[in-house]
Amino acid sequence: MKRTLISGITGQDGSYLAESLLASGGEVHGIVRQSSLLQRTRLDSVPALAAARAEGRLRLHYADLSDSSSLQAVVRQVEPDALFHLAGQSHVKISFELPEYTADSTGLGTLRLLEAVRQGAPRCRFFLAATSEIFGEPVESPQSETTPLAPINPYAAAKVYALNLVRIYRRAHGLFACAGILFNHESPRRGENYVTRKIARAAARIAKGLETHVHLGTLVPRRDWGYAVDTVEGMQAILNAEAPDDYVLATGVTHSVEDFCAVAFRIVGRDFREHVILDSEYARPVDITETRGDPSKAYRELGWRARTPFEELVRLMVEAELRAL
Ligand code: NAP
Ligand code: GDD
Repeated sequence: MKRTLISGITGQDGSYLAESLLASGGEVHGIVRQSSLLQRTRLDSVPALAAARAEGRLRLHYADLSDSSSLQAVVRQVEPDALFHLAGQSHVKISFELPEYTADSTGLGTLRLLEAVRQGAPRCRFFLAATSEIFGEPVESPQSETTPLAPINPYAAAKVYALNLVRIYRRAHGLFACAGILFNHESPRRGENYVTRKIARAAARIAKGLETHVHLGTLVPRRDWGYAVDTVEGMQAILNAEAPDDYVLATGVTHSVEDFCAVAFRIVGRDFREHVILDSEYARPVDITETRGDPSKAYRELGWRARTPFEELVRLMVEAELRAL
Protein backbone atom coordinates (compact mmCIF):
# COMPACT_ATOMS: atom_id res chain seq x y z
CA MET A 1 0.00 0.00 0.00
CA LYS A 2 1.61 3.22 -1.08
CA ARG A 3 -0.48 5.99 0.40
CA THR A 4 -2.55 5.44 3.51
CA LEU A 5 -5.00 7.73 5.28
CA ILE A 6 -5.77 7.07 8.96
CA SER A 7 -8.70 8.57 10.85
CA GLY A 8 -7.92 8.48 14.57
CA ILE A 9 -4.15 8.67 14.05
CA THR A 10 -3.71 10.43 17.42
CA GLY A 11 -5.31 7.47 19.24
CA GLN A 12 -3.76 4.29 20.61
CA ASP A 13 -4.25 2.18 17.47
CA GLY A 14 -3.66 5.00 15.02
CA SER A 15 -0.21 5.73 16.42
CA TYR A 16 0.88 2.07 16.30
CA LEU A 17 -0.59 1.63 12.83
CA ALA A 18 1.22 4.72 11.52
CA GLU A 19 4.50 3.42 12.94
CA SER A 20 4.01 0.05 11.31
CA LEU A 21 3.06 1.47 7.90
CA LEU A 22 5.96 3.92 7.91
CA ALA A 23 8.38 1.13 8.85
CA SER A 24 7.33 -0.74 5.70
CA GLY A 25 8.11 2.29 3.56
CA GLY A 26 4.64 3.75 3.01
CA GLU A 27 3.44 7.34 2.98
CA VAL A 28 1.01 8.04 5.81
CA HIS A 29 -1.58 10.79 6.14
CA GLY A 30 -3.59 11.30 9.30
CA ILE A 31 -6.81 13.11 10.12
CA VAL A 32 -6.59 15.33 13.20
CA ARG A 33 -9.29 17.53 14.67
CA GLN A 34 -9.07 21.02 16.04
CA SER A 35 -8.35 21.21 19.76
CA SER A 36 -7.08 23.89 22.12
CA LEU A 37 -3.76 22.06 22.59
CA LEU A 38 -1.42 21.34 19.70
CA GLN A 39 0.47 18.67 21.61
CA ARG A 40 -0.41 15.18 20.34
CA THR A 41 1.25 12.97 22.92
CA ARG A 42 1.04 9.64 21.11
CA LEU A 43 2.59 11.11 17.96
CA ASP A 44 5.05 13.56 19.50
CA SER A 45 6.58 11.06 21.95
CA VAL A 46 7.41 8.37 19.36
CA PRO A 47 10.77 9.15 17.71
CA ALA A 48 9.96 7.29 14.46
CA LEU A 49 6.75 9.30 14.04
CA ALA A 50 8.41 12.61 14.86
CA ALA A 51 11.16 11.84 12.31
CA ALA A 52 8.64 10.84 9.63
CA ARG A 53 6.76 14.11 10.16
CA ALA A 54 9.99 16.08 9.79
CA GLU A 55 10.77 14.19 6.56
CA GLY A 56 7.23 14.69 5.17
CA ARG A 57 6.44 10.96 5.08
CA LEU A 58 3.79 11.50 7.73
CA ARG A 59 1.36 14.38 7.14
CA LEU A 60 -1.56 15.55 9.24
CA HIS A 61 -4.77 17.09 7.88
CA TYR A 62 -7.52 18.87 9.77
CA ALA A 63 -10.97 17.30 9.44
CA ASP A 64 -13.74 16.13 11.73
CA LEU A 65 -16.11 13.18 11.63
CA SER A 66 -19.00 15.61 12.07
CA ASP A 67 -18.01 17.63 8.99
CA SER A 68 -18.61 15.91 5.63
CA SER A 69 -16.96 18.61 3.55
CA SER A 70 -13.70 18.36 5.49
CA LEU A 71 -13.63 14.55 5.09
CA GLN A 72 -14.35 14.84 1.36
CA ALA A 73 -11.60 17.42 0.96
CA VAL A 74 -8.99 15.24 2.70
CA VAL A 75 -9.91 12.15 0.69
CA ARG A 76 -9.76 14.14 -2.57
CA GLN A 77 -6.45 15.75 -1.64
CA VAL A 78 -4.67 12.61 -0.40
CA GLU A 79 -6.14 10.14 -2.94
CA PRO A 80 -5.34 7.25 -0.60
CA ASP A 81 -4.83 3.64 -1.66
CA ALA A 82 -6.09 2.58 1.78
CA LEU A 83 -8.10 4.24 4.51
CA PHE A 84 -8.11 2.89 8.08
CA HIS A 85 -11.12 4.39 9.85
CA LEU A 86 -10.27 4.27 13.57
CA ALA A 87 -11.73 7.55 14.81
CA GLY A 88 -14.79 8.02 16.99
CA GLN A 89 -16.09 8.27 20.54
CA SER A 90 -15.13 4.82 21.82
CA HIS A 91 -15.71 4.79 25.57
CA VAL A 92 -18.64 2.56 26.49
CA LYS A 93 -19.63 4.28 29.75
CA ILE A 94 -19.27 7.75 28.25
CA SER A 95 -21.57 6.69 25.40
CA PHE A 96 -24.42 6.55 27.94
CA GLU A 97 -23.63 10.16 28.86
CA LEU A 98 -23.05 11.35 25.25
CA PRO A 99 -25.39 9.10 23.23
CA GLU A 100 -26.12 11.59 20.46
CA TYR A 101 -22.47 12.60 20.01
CA THR A 102 -21.48 8.93 19.98
CA ALA A 103 -24.05 8.14 17.29
CA ASP A 104 -22.90 11.13 15.26
CA SER A 105 -19.13 10.52 15.42
CA THR A 106 -19.02 6.73 15.51
CA GLY A 107 -22.10 5.97 13.39
CA LEU A 108 -22.75 8.87 10.99
CA GLY A 109 -19.01 9.66 10.87
CA THR A 110 -18.52 6.28 9.20
CA LEU A 111 -21.26 7.06 6.67
CA ARG A 112 -19.63 10.41 5.86
CA LEU A 113 -16.23 8.78 5.30
CA LEU A 114 -17.66 5.96 3.18
CA GLU A 115 -19.43 8.52 1.01
CA ALA A 116 -16.23 10.54 0.69
CA VAL A 117 -14.48 7.39 -0.52
CA ARG A 118 -17.30 6.32 -2.85
CA GLN A 119 -17.38 9.74 -4.49
CA GLY A 120 -13.73 10.74 -4.33
CA ALA A 121 -11.57 7.58 -4.30
CA PRO A 122 -13.68 4.52 -5.16
CA ARG A 123 -10.66 2.24 -5.58
CA CYS A 124 -9.39 3.03 -2.07
CA ARG A 125 -9.53 0.06 0.31
CA PHE A 126 -11.55 0.92 3.44
CA PHE A 127 -11.11 -0.60 6.92
CA LEU A 128 -13.54 -0.05 9.80
CA ALA A 129 -12.56 -0.70 13.41
CA ALA A 130 -15.68 -2.54 14.58
CA THR A 131 -15.93 -4.08 18.04
CA SER A 132 -16.88 -7.13 20.08
CA GLU A 133 -19.40 -4.81 21.77
CA ILE A 134 -21.74 -5.44 18.80
CA PHE A 135 -22.59 -8.87 20.27
CA GLY A 136 -23.88 -7.38 23.54
CA GLU A 137 -24.32 -10.12 26.14
CA PRO A 138 -23.29 -12.85 23.69
CA VAL A 139 -25.59 -15.78 22.99
CA GLU A 140 -22.61 -18.06 22.30
CA SER A 141 -18.99 -18.36 23.30
CA PRO A 142 -16.58 -17.83 21.67
CA GLN A 143 -17.98 -15.09 19.43
CA SER A 144 -17.29 -15.29 15.71
CA GLU A 145 -18.20 -13.41 12.55
CA THR A 146 -21.60 -15.17 12.56
CA THR A 147 -22.62 -14.48 16.17
CA PRO A 148 -25.89 -12.47 16.26
CA LEU A 149 -25.59 -8.71 16.80
CA ALA A 150 -27.37 -7.46 19.94
CA PRO A 151 -25.82 -4.19 21.18
CA ILE A 152 -26.58 -3.06 24.75
CA ASN A 153 -25.06 0.43 24.83
CA PRO A 154 -25.14 3.51 22.55
CA TYR A 155 -21.52 3.00 21.44
CA ALA A 156 -22.21 -0.57 20.34
CA ALA A 157 -25.42 0.49 18.56
CA ALA A 158 -23.43 3.10 16.62
CA LYS A 159 -20.81 0.47 15.69
CA VAL A 160 -23.50 -1.95 14.48
CA TYR A 161 -24.76 0.83 12.20
CA ALA A 162 -21.20 1.45 11.00
CA LEU A 163 -20.57 -2.26 10.39
CA ASN A 164 -23.84 -2.59 8.45
CA LEU A 165 -22.82 0.39 6.30
CA VAL A 166 -19.49 -1.27 5.47
CA ARG A 167 -21.38 -4.39 4.36
CA ILE A 168 -23.86 -2.30 2.34
CA TYR A 169 -21.15 -0.27 0.59
CA ARG A 170 -19.26 -3.47 -0.21
CA ARG A 171 -22.33 -5.10 -1.72
CA ALA A 172 -24.18 -2.19 -3.28
CA HIS A 173 -21.30 -0.01 -4.44
CA GLY A 174 -18.55 -2.62 -4.89
CA LEU A 175 -16.16 -0.87 -2.51
CA PHE A 176 -13.27 -2.87 -1.06
CA ALA A 177 -14.71 -2.22 2.39
CA CYS A 178 -13.81 -4.45 5.35
CA ALA A 179 -14.25 -4.55 9.10
CA GLY A 180 -12.13 -5.93 11.90
CA ILE A 181 -14.37 -7.06 14.75
CA LEU A 182 -11.86 -6.05 17.37
CA PHE A 183 -11.86 -7.42 20.90
CA ASN A 184 -10.25 -5.32 23.65
CA HIS A 185 -6.64 -4.52 22.90
CA GLU A 186 -4.41 -2.59 25.23
CA SER A 187 -0.95 -1.06 25.50
CA PRO A 188 0.98 1.63 27.35
CA ARG A 189 -0.68 4.07 24.89
CA ARG A 190 -4.20 3.09 25.97
CA GLY A 191 -6.43 5.97 27.12
CA GLU A 192 -6.12 6.53 30.85
CA ASN A 193 -9.85 6.01 31.50
CA TYR A 194 -9.94 2.42 30.22
CA VAL A 195 -9.65 -0.16 32.94
CA THR A 196 -6.31 -1.79 32.05
CA ARG A 197 -4.39 1.47 31.80
CA LYS A 198 -6.10 2.74 34.94
CA ILE A 199 -5.00 -0.35 36.88
CA ALA A 200 -1.45 -0.43 35.45
CA ARG A 201 -1.01 3.26 36.24
CA ALA A 202 -2.40 2.87 39.75
CA ALA A 203 -0.20 -0.15 40.52
CA ALA A 204 2.92 1.81 39.52
CA ARG A 205 1.93 4.96 41.42
CA ILE A 206 0.96 3.01 44.54
CA ALA A 207 4.26 1.10 44.42
CA LYS A 208 6.10 4.45 44.29
CA GLY A 209 4.08 5.82 47.20
CA LEU A 210 2.31 8.46 45.08
CA GLU A 211 -1.18 7.06 45.73
CA THR A 212 -2.76 4.55 48.07
CA HIS A 213 -5.92 3.33 46.31
CA VAL A 214 -7.65 2.99 42.96
CA HIS A 215 -11.43 3.24 42.51
CA LEU A 216 -13.01 0.71 40.12
CA GLY A 217 -16.61 0.00 39.17
CA THR A 218 -16.46 -3.80 39.35
CA LEU A 219 -13.94 -6.65 39.33
CA VAL A 220 -16.24 -9.27 37.82
CA PRO A 221 -16.45 -8.75 34.01
CA ARG A 222 -14.20 -10.79 31.78
CA ARG A 223 -12.64 -9.54 28.56
CA ASP A 224 -10.58 -11.03 25.74
CA TRP A 225 -7.59 -8.70 26.17
CA GLY A 226 -4.89 -8.56 23.50
CA TYR A 227 -1.97 -6.26 22.65
CA ALA A 228 -2.69 -3.31 20.33
CA VAL A 229 0.54 -3.90 18.37
CA ASP A 230 -0.72 -7.37 17.38
CA THR A 231 -4.15 -5.97 16.51
CA VAL A 232 -2.86 -3.32 14.09
CA GLU A 233 -0.96 -6.10 12.25
CA GLY A 234 -4.28 -7.86 11.84
CA MET A 235 -5.91 -4.70 10.47
CA GLN A 236 -3.28 -4.52 7.74
CA ALA A 237 -3.68 -8.22 6.92
CA ILE A 238 -7.43 -7.65 6.46
CA LEU A 239 -6.87 -4.83 3.94
CA ASN A 240 -4.13 -6.81 2.14
CA ALA A 241 -6.41 -9.81 1.56
CA GLU A 242 -7.52 -10.74 -1.96
CA ALA A 243 -11.19 -10.04 -1.28
CA PRO A 244 -12.94 -7.71 1.15
CA ASP A 245 -14.43 -9.39 4.21
CA ASP A 246 -14.94 -9.02 7.97
CA TYR A 247 -12.75 -10.75 10.56
CA VAL A 248 -12.69 -11.21 14.32
CA LEU A 249 -9.33 -10.14 15.79
CA ALA A 250 -9.04 -11.61 19.29
CA THR A 251 -6.84 -13.82 21.45
CA GLY A 252 -9.49 -16.46 22.23
CA VAL A 253 -8.62 -16.21 25.94
CA THR A 254 -10.61 -14.36 28.59
CA HIS A 255 -9.67 -12.87 31.99
CA SER A 256 -11.53 -10.89 34.64
CA VAL A 257 -10.83 -7.34 35.79
CA GLU A 258 -9.79 -8.98 39.06
CA ASP A 259 -7.22 -11.14 37.20
CA PHE A 260 -5.79 -7.97 35.67
CA CYS A 261 -5.54 -6.32 39.10
CA ALA A 262 -3.96 -9.42 40.66
CA VAL A 263 -1.21 -9.67 38.02
CA ALA A 264 -0.53 -5.91 37.88
CA PHE A 265 -0.17 -5.53 41.63
CA ARG A 266 1.85 -8.76 41.93
CA ILE A 267 4.37 -7.29 39.46
CA VAL A 268 4.98 -4.38 41.87
CA GLY A 269 4.99 -6.67 44.93
CA ARG A 270 1.57 -5.63 46.28
CA ASP A 271 -1.75 -7.33 47.04
CA PHE A 272 -4.51 -5.66 45.00
CA ARG A 273 -7.09 -6.38 47.73
CA GLU A 274 -5.44 -3.75 49.92
CA HIS A 275 -5.60 -1.06 47.23
CA VAL A 276 -8.82 -1.47 45.21
CA ILE A 277 -12.01 0.33 46.27
CA LEU A 278 -15.29 -0.52 44.54
CA ASP A 279 -17.01 2.70 43.52
CA SER A 280 -20.41 2.94 41.82
CA GLU A 281 -19.25 6.07 39.98
CA TYR A 282 -17.39 3.78 37.58
CA ALA A 283 -20.13 1.15 37.23
CA ARG A 284 -22.31 1.02 34.11
CA PRO A 285 -26.10 0.88 33.73
CA VAL A 286 -25.56 -2.44 31.95
CA ASP A 287 -22.31 -4.26 31.27
CA ILE A 288 -21.23 -7.29 29.27
CA THR A 289 -20.28 -10.17 31.58
CA GLU A 290 -17.76 -11.87 29.31
CA THR A 291 -16.28 -11.59 25.84
CA ARG A 292 -14.19 -14.25 24.15
CA GLY A 293 -13.40 -14.10 20.45
CA ASP A 294 -12.91 -16.88 17.94
CA PRO A 295 -10.03 -15.66 15.74
CA SER A 296 -9.85 -18.86 13.68
CA LYS A 297 -11.08 -17.26 10.43
CA ALA A 298 -8.34 -14.61 10.60
CA TYR A 299 -5.74 -17.33 11.18
CA ARG A 300 -7.07 -19.63 8.47
CA GLU A 301 -7.47 -16.97 5.77
CA LEU A 302 -4.91 -14.31 6.72
CA GLY A 303 -2.34 -16.20 8.81
CA TRP A 304 -2.90 -13.69 11.63
CA ARG A 305 -2.90 -14.57 15.30
CA ALA A 306 -2.41 -12.66 18.55
CA ARG A 307 1.14 -13.24 19.79
CA THR A 308 1.21 -11.55 23.21
CA PRO A 309 -0.05 -13.54 26.21
CA PHE A 310 -2.09 -11.84 28.95
CA GLU A 311 0.64 -11.83 31.64
CA GLU A 312 3.17 -10.34 29.22
CA LEU A 313 0.67 -7.63 28.25
CA VAL A 314 0.07 -6.68 31.88
CA ARG A 315 3.80 -6.66 32.57
CA LEU A 316 4.67 -4.42 29.64
CA MET A 317 1.95 -1.97 30.66
CA VAL A 318 3.00 -1.83 34.32
CA GLU A 319 6.69 -1.55 33.43
CA ALA A 320 5.94 1.33 31.05
CA GLU A 321 4.12 3.14 33.88
CA LEU A 322 7.05 2.59 36.24
CA ARG A 323 9.48 3.94 33.63
CA ALA A 324 7.28 6.99 33.04
CA LEU A 325 7.51 7.85 36.75
P1 NAP B 1 -8.74 6.03 20.97
O1 NAP B 1 -7.37 5.89 21.53
O2 NAP B 1 -9.84 6.52 21.83
O3 NAP B 1 -8.63 7.02 19.70
C1 NAP B 1 -9.77 7.56 19.10
C2 NAP B 1 -9.32 8.47 17.98
O4 NAP B 1 -10.49 9.03 17.35
C3 NAP B 1 -8.46 9.66 18.43
O5 NAP B 1 -7.47 9.89 17.47
C4 NAP B 1 -9.47 10.79 18.43
O6 NAP B 1 -8.88 12.08 18.28
C5 NAP B 1 -10.28 10.43 17.20
N1 NAP B 1 -11.59 11.11 17.15
C6 NAP B 1 -12.59 11.01 18.06
N2 NAP B 1 -13.62 11.76 17.67
C7 NAP B 1 -13.27 12.35 16.49
C8 NAP B 1 -13.91 13.24 15.60
N3 NAP B 1 -15.14 13.71 15.84
N4 NAP B 1 -13.26 13.62 14.47
C9 NAP B 1 -12.02 13.18 14.22
N5 NAP B 1 -11.34 12.32 15.03
C10 NAP B 1 -11.97 11.92 16.16
O7 NAP B 1 -9.23 4.65 20.33
P2 NAP B 1 -8.40 3.31 20.04
O8 NAP B 1 -8.33 2.52 21.30
O9 NAP B 1 -7.16 3.64 19.30
O10 NAP B 1 -9.43 2.55 19.09
C11 NAP B 1 -9.41 2.78 17.69
C12 NAP B 1 -10.73 2.33 17.09
O11 NAP B 1 -10.91 0.94 17.35
C13 NAP B 1 -11.96 3.03 17.66
O12 NAP B 1 -12.87 3.24 16.61
C14 NAP B 1 -12.55 2.03 18.64
O13 NAP B 1 -13.94 2.17 18.75
C15 NAP B 1 -12.18 0.73 17.97
N6 NAP B 1 -12.01 -0.38 18.91
C16 NAP B 1 -11.06 -0.29 19.86
C17 NAP B 1 -10.87 -1.35 20.75
C18 NAP B 1 -9.82 -1.31 21.81
O14 NAP B 1 -9.82 -2.20 22.65
N7 NAP B 1 -8.92 -0.34 21.79
C19 NAP B 1 -11.66 -2.50 20.62
C20 NAP B 1 -12.65 -2.53 19.64
C21 NAP B 1 -12.80 -1.46 18.77
P3 NAP B 1 -8.35 12.93 19.57
O15 NAP B 1 -6.95 12.41 19.85
O16 NAP B 1 -8.38 14.32 19.05
O17 NAP B 1 -9.28 12.67 20.71
N1 GDD C 1 -13.19 2.05 32.10
C1 GDD C 1 -13.41 1.43 33.27
N2 GDD C 1 -13.13 2.10 34.42
N3 GDD C 1 -13.88 0.17 33.26
C2 GDD C 1 -14.06 -0.44 34.45
C3 GDD C 1 -13.79 0.20 35.67
C4 GDD C 1 -13.31 1.54 35.67
O1 GDD C 1 -13.05 2.14 36.68
N4 GDD C 1 -14.07 -0.68 36.68
C5 GDD C 1 -14.48 -1.80 36.11
N5 GDD C 1 -14.49 -1.67 34.76
C6 GDD C 1 -14.95 -2.70 33.81
C7 GDD C 1 -15.98 -2.20 32.82
O2 GDD C 1 -17.28 -2.15 33.42
C8 GDD C 1 -15.86 -3.29 31.74
O3 GDD C 1 -16.63 -4.42 32.13
C9 GDD C 1 -14.38 -3.65 31.79
O4 GDD C 1 -13.86 -3.12 33.02
C10 GDD C 1 -13.57 -3.08 30.62
O5 GDD C 1 -13.86 -1.69 30.55
P1 GDD C 1 -13.04 -0.73 29.53
O6 GDD C 1 -11.60 -0.87 29.74
O7 GDD C 1 -13.65 0.62 29.63
O8 GDD C 1 -13.33 -1.40 28.10
P2 GDD C 1 -14.69 -1.90 27.42
O9 GDD C 1 -14.63 -3.39 27.35
O10 GDD C 1 -15.88 -1.30 28.04
O11 GDD C 1 -14.56 -1.27 25.97
C11 GDD C 1 -13.33 -1.30 25.26
O12 GDD C 1 -13.27 -2.46 24.48
C12 GDD C 1 -14.27 -2.53 23.46
C13 GDD C 1 -14.07 -3.86 22.72
O13 GDD C 1 -14.73 -4.86 23.38
C14 GDD C 1 -13.25 -0.03 24.44
O14 GDD C 1 -11.97 0.05 23.86
C15 GDD C 1 -14.28 -0.05 23.32
O15 GDD C 1 -14.05 1.06 22.45
C16 GDD C 1 -14.11 -1.35 22.55
O16 GDD C 1 -15.03 -1.42 21.49
